[in-house]
Amino acid sequence: MRRILATLVPLGAVLLAGAAEPLVGEGRAAFRRGAGPTSRPCGACHVQGGIGGAGATVAQRQTPALWGVAALAAIPEGTIEAGVWGPGAPRGVTRGRVGYTEEGVGRFGWKAETASLDTLVANGCLAGNPPAAPVALTRYLHVLPAPVRLTDTPGAARGEALFHALACADCHVPSLGEVDGVYSDLLLHDLGADLAVRPPSGGSAPPPPEAHTRGREEWRTPPLWGLRDSAPYLHDGRAPDVSAAIAAHGGDAAESALAWRVLPAPQREAVLTFLDTLAAP
Ligand code: HEC
Ligand code: HEC
Repeated sequence: MRRILATLVPLGAVLLAGAAEPLVGEGRAAFRRGAGPTSRPCGACHVQGGIGGAGATVAQRQTPALWGVAALAAIPEGTIEAGVWGPGAPRGVTRGRVGYTEEGVGRFGWKAETASLDTLVANGCLAGNPPAAPVALTRYLHVLPAPVRLTDTPGAARGEALFHALACADCHVPSLGEVDGVYSDLLLHDLGADLAVRPPSGGSAPPPPEAHTRGREEWRTPPLWGLRDSAPYLHDGRAPDVSAAIAAHGGDAAESALAWRVLPAPQREAVLTFLDTLAAP
């Protein structure tokens, strides 16, 4: 099977430069060692040296894979903002909104609650305390390669066409700015009550979301690159496979998910074949 890099960013060059750089080695070590005696190393949750998919589920949040995070960080804010469809949108299926943070356009985390890798690292990700070598850690994140696209897979082209026909690509947009093959708009979408964060028992309904808050039903469209190697799926890891993840879509994706459910089995299979070409580097 042939693999091509899924992004236009010359990551091969970055990687070669990075491998020889002492700071990257220090960052890799810090990733595995942890911030201090009280906090878990990054690599305890982000398994396989930080580039793997499945890891710990913390407070109902599945650990995301970190491949290609540098490419996501480099996308200009205006490119993400331009993805919000106005009232004249051709389909009107999707109503994504930008997940603003105090620091600008949020792009990391299941609710796009963090705007930059620097901030994520400074917070020790979820731990809230700064790790020992933040500069080296950030440098390490910058040399992790982006996922790839497996080519020469029979049926994948047909599946990709169906992916567009089902309006999946309205949210999972193939390219964002210069980053090819990401399959995300990095916007927040209402995915319906079934996927909402469970309210505390006896709690009342939350107020409507404002710019800096997130509704319970709102999630950032996760990039689908690397999907083949990042099970389980969805924000809480409830979906053991890709079919289950698609079937769980509701809210603004309800029409798209309904179209998927009524699709004849061979065509559903073709979509899955296409999605299975989105692989880890
Ligand atoms: C206790 C487990 C845990 C540890 C330890 C941890 N992470 Fe995370 N990480 C997560 C989870 C869970 C998320 C998703 C958070 C969310 O959506 O609220 C995340 C998100 C991220 C993201 C954003 C990825 C994306 O595409 O949105 C980056 C980058 C990241 N972590 C890097 C790090 C680094 C660097 C460290 C070490 C300083 C670290 N993490 C330590 C569990 C962990
Ligand atoms: C309205 C926007 C929207 C549309 C349309 C949409 N999705 Fe999604 N998709 C999302 C969001 C948001 C999530 C994250 C939901 C969560 O984690 O609870 C998601 C999650 C996924 C996941 C799981 C990814 C992971 O890493 O966990 C897959 C696979 C997926 N979508 C495929 C599809 C396919 C195939 C279609 C078309 C049938 C589709 N989506 C249509 C927004 C959308």
